[in-house]
Amino acid sequence: MGQGVLTAGFTRVEGELQAEGVPLSRIAEAAGTPAFVYSAGLIRERYRALDSALAAVPHRVHYTLKANSSRAILRLLHGLGCRADVVSGGELHRARLAGFAGDEIIFGGVGKSEDELREALHAGVAMLNVESEAEVRAIGRIAAETGLAARVSLRVNPEVTVEAAHHYIKTGERGHKFGIPIDDALHVARVAASLPGVTLVGLDMHLGSMLSQVEPYRAGAERLAQLCREVRAAGITTLRHLDLGGGLSVRYADERPLDPAEFAAAVVPIVQATGLELIVEPGRFIVGNAGLLLTRVLYRKHSGGKEYAIADAGMTELLRPSYYHAYHRIEAVRPVAGTGRLDVVGPVCESGDFLALERTMDDPAPGDLLAVFDAGAYGYVMASNYNSRRRPAEVLVDGDRFAVVTARESYDDLVAREVDQPDWRP
Ligand code: LLP
Repeated sequence: MGQGVLTAGFTRVEGELQAEGVPLSRIAEAAGTPAFVYSAGLIRERYRALDSALAAVPHRVHYTLKANSSRAILRLLHGLGCRADVVSGGELHRARLAGFAGDEIIFGGVGKSEDELREALHAGVAMLNVESEAEVRAIGRIAAETGLAARVSLRVNPEVTVEAAHHYIKTGERGHKFGIPIDDALHVARVAASLPGVTLVGLDMHLGSMLSQVEPYRAGAERLAQLCREVRAAGITTLRHLDLGGGLSVRYADERPLDPAEFAAAVVPIVQATGLELIVEPGRFIVGNAGLLLTRVLYRKHSGGKEYAIADAGMTELLRPSYYHAYHRIEAVRPVAGTGRLDVVGPVCESGDFLALERTMDDPAPGDLLAVFDAGAYGYVMASNYNSRRRPAEVLVDGDRFAVVTARESYDDLVAREVDQPDWRP
């Protein structure tokens, strides 16, 4: 595994882009385009970097499936000792299929249905991160009814102001829909502790995504530590974990990403003082830079004074540019003659369907392959079938070998659950 490769990730060898030891053109030939291509070596590297940065304190890394829930990646992470963080019955199902035991899984999310709560308790999840008093009471009812033990952690909104790349990915400020307002948290802790079958095992926060400053983490961790003291002073002695959520940023352009060592230096002393085990829920940090979207240019077009490259991937494969105006670096897989200023757009019938706007970049010809970098997180998982497009293939590269780990959807897949003749009911 990883043998014979100079570096994990994506590099150029004799001008051509490779994923670890495999030329991207070879992958395009074998798997077609568009396709997501992931580097197993880079995923291992990121997991280990974070895990070792936190070594000074008892801790658990619960990888957040929403960033990329491809089963092959989940298996890879599980094999490294990583645990899982899920937010739906579907993600719970995936985590279990990939080998995670119930007690390696945290179940979070602001709107868990009653069915999902039952599934989580049946699976014996390590804890449910609860987001309201009503939810903790619903869990209490189900626990009483089924006799299943429910471990809960309170997701608190610590009301910390953060800088994130886009306001859609901030979550821990006053008035957001997520979490229990910090002022109500002690009350909800008392409610949780009073319910038979329910044990309050943790306090949790998640401030947002793409956070590059440590200060909000320090401030949030201090608020949780203070709450921990108040909970204990109220006679509740069952706390075991302090969960600081995810959100560690990665580099897309020239940002300075958050260094795990800096993160650890800021929060570890605060967690140590509580005597609790630290939990983190990273998604993007583990997989963000470890994947790219491989797409082929179908046509070039000149319109209204602008240059277009029309690619075979767009918002249906990678929604982030359209939805958040997110920047993803794009390079030609094989060297091209010059640079141009162009819009890279997809085939979808929407003017908002683009991968890059007015970008100075390699000037590709029809047929050329492009690599859209840093698409490992929130890429495939946000893909859609709009325009009845088939979701793309996913390819995992490990050293000098590769495997298609998710097949491209077929036309039959698109219609498999539809009926021609409705089964009308009165
Ligand atoms: N924990 C909770 C409770 C979360 O809501 C999230 C992400 C994470 C952990 C992991 O955050 P990360 O480490 O990946 O930043 N689709 C957006 C990102 C949405 C993040 C949602 N929550 C994007 O493409 O930027």
